[in-house]
Amino acid sequence: MDVRDLPLALLAKSVGAVLALFLAGATIFVWSGIYNVAASSDHLRITTWLLAQIRERSIDTRTFAVDVPPLDDDGMIRLGASHYEGVCVSCHGRPGQKINPVVSGMLPQPPDLADVGNRRPPEEIFWIVRHGLKYTGMPAWPDLRREDEVWAVTAFLADLPTRIPDYSDLAGLPRGSEDRGDGVSSGGTLTDCGRCHESGSKDTNGSRIPRLAGLPEAYILRSLQDYARGSRPSGIMQPVADLLDEHAMRDLAARYSAVRAPAERPATTAAPPERIRRGETIATLGVPENGVPACLSCHSGRQSPQFPVLAGQHSDYIRDQLKLWQRGGRVGTPYGRIMAAVAAALETEQIDDVAAYLSSLPSGSVRSAPTTEAER
Ligand code: HEC
Ligand code: HEC
Ligand code: HEC
Repeated sequence: MDVRDLPLALLAKSVGAVLALFLAGATIFVWSGIYNVAASSDHLRITTWLLAQIRERSIDTRTFAVDVPPLDDDGMIRLGASHYEGVCVSCHGRPGQKINPVVSGMLPQPPDLADVGNRRPPEEIFWIVRHGLKYTGMPAWPDLRREDEVWAVTAFLADLPTRIPDYSDLAGLPRGSEDRGDGVSSGGTLTDCGRCHESGSKDTNGSRIPRLAGLPEAYILRSLQDYARGSRPSGIMQPVADLLDEHAMRDLAARYSAVRAPAERPATTAAPPERIRRGETIATLGVPENGVPACLSCHSGRQSPQFPVLAGQHSDYIRDQLKLWQRGGRVGTPYGRIMAAVAAALETEQIDDVAAYLSSLPSGSVRSAPTTEAER
């Protein structure tokens, strides 16, 4: 053996020995059950510190390239608040209120999120709500393709520090239902459709939640079935539809298709007249040079009870759905695939135009299908 190799060989041997000792120690530590996993006693201080470092470093590294869209949008904030009331309140409580005693036995405890908008930048809130946190009970969003929905929740939480007094209005709660003070949800059950969708004289809770009034019964029923099956992904409607049985779905479809649209027009109708005119051309004639068919050749309400009527729908909602199709987020059903080709051929400006026009039509109105030259 070469003499020069001796120190290296020695070093390798000592490192090996230390590693073996460490492994043996770790095995004894795990096997002995000495570490207490009971949630009734806190972690050691060093463990708490270490876990927090791991969490924050991991979030930091993974939010590096996240682009934050504009969040100052009433429709997004309302949608985020409505969803928060139905799903997140069970763990985090209503902002500023005491959390449920059962939940306060969790380790780590779900924190009060009233001031999370001051403590964390939007990209971190977005990342946590989208991906959840391992070993804590904080769940991931049901579908990773619906980042638009996660941004709505982020918009709500980022804005919350200054909006706590408006919480029940934002979440669509009836006045007074938030006052029990014990963190137990009393007005905002998950399947309380009227908090989000229109009911009688009340409009939907903001421009990101679709109006159901005037939609065909068969379309509403199929939409609920698609959500429940997960073939139409939505982290907001999937958990709702999952709680409905076939009978309840049929009942709700019949009820909502008979609701008259509230007289109030969507606020977003105030689009410039040129935009509405360009939108009308797309809706009635399509964009033949790009292979876009006339929207009203399918959406006038006469062609099929499976085709939704779009007249008077919120333009923000129409726009969000067309962009969702462009991202491949609504193609899990045969009907959804019909629209994927249409949406893919539309430019952003054309989406804005046609959404403005459709939204400006009287709610639920049924327009006659356009006749092409060939049909005349
Ligand atoms: C089953 C209980 C549970 C539910 C439901 C839940 N969370 Fe959490 N959440 C937690 C726990 C526990 C933590 C703390 C994790 C930690 O400390 O590492 C947490 C942490 C968070 C954080 C980070 C807070 C901070 O101070 O850093 C945000 C933001 C958050 N949750 C948002 C939400 C939203 C939005 C929803 C609803 C879509 C939700 N959570 C639903 C349990 C839950
Ligand atoms: C937290 C708010 C919220 C609640 C509560 C809620 N919805 Fe929805 N609903 C939404 C949103 C947001 C969408 C759009 C989801 C998407 O992007 O696919 C939607 C979509 C729908 C659609 C599809 C509409 C369309 O134009 O394609 C139907 C049908 C529907 N909801 C019915 C219901 C019924 C019935 C209930 C009660 C059992 C209910 N929703 C409860 C927010 C809600
Ligand atoms: C060949 C028929 C057809 C044409 C043409 C068509 N659509 Fe659709 N559209 C559909 C079907 C079918 C659905 C239902 C998809 C589903 O259930 O997921 C739909 C759904 C939609 C929705 C979602 C509505 C809701 O309530 O969720 C929007 C928005 C929409 N179409 C916009 C348009 C626009 C804008 C055009 C014209 C540029 C257009 N469509 C042309 C068949 C068509």
